[in-house]
Amino acid sequence: MALTVTSPDLRQSVPDWPVSIDQAVSQLRRQDEAFGAAFPDDTTVEGLYRPRPACAGFAAGANRGWTTGFRTGLRWLAYDWSGDDFFRQGAEADVVDFTRRVEAGLDTDTHDLGFLYTLSCVAAARLTGDPAAIAAGLAAADRLMGRICQPAGVVQAWGDLTDPAQRGRTIIDSLMNMPLLYWASQASGRPDYAAAAHRHASQLRDHIVRPDGSTFHTFYWDPTDGRPLGGATAQGHADDSCWARGQAWGVLGFALNFRYSRDDSFLVAAGRCLDYFLAHLPGDQVPYWDLVFGDGSSQPRDSSAAAIAACGLRELSSHQLDQAAGLIGRADAITSSLVTGYSHRTAPRSNALLLHGVYDLPKSVGVDEASLWGDYFYLEALLRAARPGWLGYW
Ligand code: GLY
Repeated sequence: MALTVTSPDLRQSVPDWPVSIDQAVSQLRRQDEAFGAAFPDDTTVEGLYRPRPACAGFAAGANRGWTTGFRTGLRWLAYDWSGDDFFRQGAEADVVDFTRRVEAGLDTDTHDLGFLYTLSCVAAARLTGDPAAIAAGLAAADRLMGRICQPAGVVQAWGDLTDPAQRGRTIIDSLMNMPLLYWASQASGRPDYAAAAHRHASQLRDHIVRPDGSTFHTFYWDPTDGRPLGGATAQGHADDSCWARGQAWGVLGFALNFRYSRDDSFLVAAGRCLDYFLAHLPGDQVPYWDLVFGDGSSQPRDSSAAAIAACGLRELSSHQLDQAAGLIGRADAITSSLVTGYSHRTAPRSNALLLHGVYDLPKSVGVDEASLWGDYFYLEALLRAARPGWLGYW
């Protein structure tokens, strides 16, 4: 990793992390008291979360889509930090709902079972040892295994397995879904989950990362003979640009795949993604939604990409001790900028934690809004800053 050296102007004083966490937890409590069991929508609208709307047989506020696990993960983070049983009770009620969801197969045709179940049931397993949560996590891992597309050995990202438009397609985000499989190997004693995760991540390492360290958002393999076919975007500016959140998923995702597999090539891949990400940050360290844009472009930022990358920097600092100081310095600079310029502290009327993200600009969804994943990674980044060596629930 040719880590970009921390420049002197980034060595500013950092916020008091525990105070920032306490403020975020208070904000979260107010939001949780208002929502109760109902899940908020993926993103805010004009800075405010509303309950997830009713859709396709699901009631308003129901557990559907790929982002509800972040709400549960936020509750676990808040409990972990504060010890407040209010958050534990909310998270445990969510875990019961996630158990019901996986058992009934409700909106489970997605690789995002990793995001959903790691931050709900695996987090519960790690924090409380709840046997029902372990069983639900393993059931989710089994469903994820069912999405492997052979002979390429990649996990299909989206949709029904019989959909020809989606067969053999993966996306960079999927790296974040592999920890569920590594955990399942540890929890069950079965090596096949971890082997599948290693194969999938290896295919992304070899094909979704471009020679300059940037990444494609999505990549296709031939479903018949497993040949790599090529990359394209879905949420980025162009097929050959670099979607900021995808690059951040690459940094943290490859680092997490290294944590479990100890395969050095994933550490190298994470470092290549990181170098490209850092080299394309604007002055305030929070990227525009696609890294093709820089200061003066008047494009919106994606604060969630910054929060994810900050977690990736801290994760890497725990594996690359010789570079830890530089990595932590960059994480501090990004996280400080989020606290002072992008957090709820700057927007008293919002019920979110981290403002100014982008969900899907090409589809005009969630542009310059908060998101459940942005809020989650903001709080995870703060906990990682306040508790050196703490690794979260991945
Ligand atoms: N995993 C979907 C996204 O990052 O928007």
